[in-house]
Amino acid sequence: MKSNYLNDCTSWVCRRFPMAKLWNDHMAQYYAPKNFNFWYFFGSLALLVLVNQFITGILLTMNYKPDASLAFDSVEYIMREVPWGWLVRYMHSTGASAFFIVVYLHMFRGLIYGSYKQPRELIWIFGMLIFLALMAEAFMGYLLPWGQMSYWGAQVIISLFSAIPVIGDDLSLWVRGDYVISDATLNRFFAFHVIAIPLILVMLVFLHIIALHEVGSNNPDGIEIKDSKDPWGHPVDGIPFHPYYTVKDIVGVAVFMFFFATVIFYMPEMGGYFLEHANFIPADPLATPEHIAPVWYFTPFYAILRAIPDKFAGVIAMGGAIVVLFLLPWLDRSPVRSIRYRGGIYKKAIVLFVISFIGLGYLGMQPPTAGATIFARILTAIYFAFFLLMPIYTRWERPKPLPKRVNEEPGLEDRIPAIKQSFAAMTHDVPETRDGHTVMHTRPDASGIAHELSKLGRKIIRSLD
Ligand code: HEM
Repeated sequence: MKSNYLNDCTSWVCRRFPMAKLWNDHMAQYYAPKNFNFWYFFGSLALLVLVNQFITGILLTMNYKPDASLAFDSVEYIMREVPWGWLVRYMHSTGASAFFIVVYLHMFRGLIYGSYKQPRELIWIFGMLIFLALMAEAFMGYLLPWGQMSYWGAQVIISLFSAIPVIGDDLSLWVRGDYVISDATLNRFFAFHVIAIPLILVMLVFLHIIALHEVGSNNPDGIEIKDSKDPWGHPVDGIPFHPYYTVKDIVGVAVFMFFFATVIFYMPEMGGYFLEHANFIPADPLATPEHIAPVWYFTPFYAILRAIPDKFAGVIAMGGAIVVLFLLPWLDRSPVRSIRYRGGIYKKAIVLFVISFIGLGYLGMQPPTAGATIFARILTAIYFAFFLLMPIYTRWERPKPLPKRVNEEPGLEDRIPAIKQSFAAMTHDVPETRDGHTVMHTRPDASGIAHELSKLGRKIIRSLD
């Protein structure tokens, strides 16, 4: 093996700290499957967003005031007076939504490739604990700007505790630190948001990655690369994480940054989805907003809560919707991991699950009309059926035979001709005359775009087979 500074490091530090060993064990000599695809970007993107939240969060804390009479104005001060304050705040608020987008896609990857199955159950459990911590972090952070939605959103969610028999009222009083949301609530949420939960998150992410590196990554074929090794003991279908995936992840980071920056600079409120309009009005305990809805990433669970007529049963259903995810490794009885080798029932079940999750997310943002409630009940039933019937349908269906070695994924170079063809199909050249000169301009072509999108849709459906 080619030597470098780190793997034959003999410096003062290396003689006292296992720097080279850590580097080799987790980067240069950590073998990852060679067939990682687009879905495998989201773990490293989640790390990137975590770092973004830390840095921008620390900067915000330098000017934010956790005091009910100053909090709203201090956020306005950050936005208007603090140099680059607007950018830091938008990076943090957009980062919160980006975190959930990235984590939901990361979890979905786990679902389609069966990454939670034996021997990766613990990676999944740590992941679920991260998900819980992330929800608590986002919920408490949302109270800090002390806007109308901060105040009333927290009021609705904390009052849910009072639905618990016997201890409910005392419990919600204990969480709030007062009979209503107040300065006491703001202070404790600040403490949790800024120090307690971030510490828990970092610890859980560390455990998540240690557990991953113990058993090694799964891959889109869901077969163990450790089963075929070369004479040196390296998996034949594995490649060292560094430099191959460190470099590949840079592509994911660049594409992510493009979308992230577009949102920050052109649509930071995202039409009220990332920053709700009612939150630009200071909290007023005497004026309840007409329509209280949580931020988009909580709405699927909020819709389940509202779908159930009884408040306590609703709270149990909402909690159950998350608990059932913890059980996934034991609910899935299929002998194969990846969707590529599963039968048709699982594929249809997962499509229905995605429809139910997105549908519930949409309904959770809408006012609870009678029609919406019926829809929410149907989708809630589908959501739970996906998990609770899994032990049955995953045993029923007949999987396809597994290959011995992983299928190679085409690289970016292989895809370039197809990308060029797609671009040509989605555009047309229009002659334009200016100052007596005719020049050709490339313009978007609506029918070409529609055609390419439907081709992409068909391809995605085929790729599940
Ligand atoms: C802050 C949030 C998170 C971070 C920073 C994070 C980070 C990572 C990283 C870097 C990897 C390896 C690269 C990859 O496979 O994409 C990974 C793998 C994995 N993560 Fe996470 N993760 C987070 C949340 C979650 C959550 C919420 C779940 C699920 C409940 C989860 C489940 C998994 C699983 C099952 C794997 C193994 C995937 C495989 O080998 O196919 N993670 N995570």
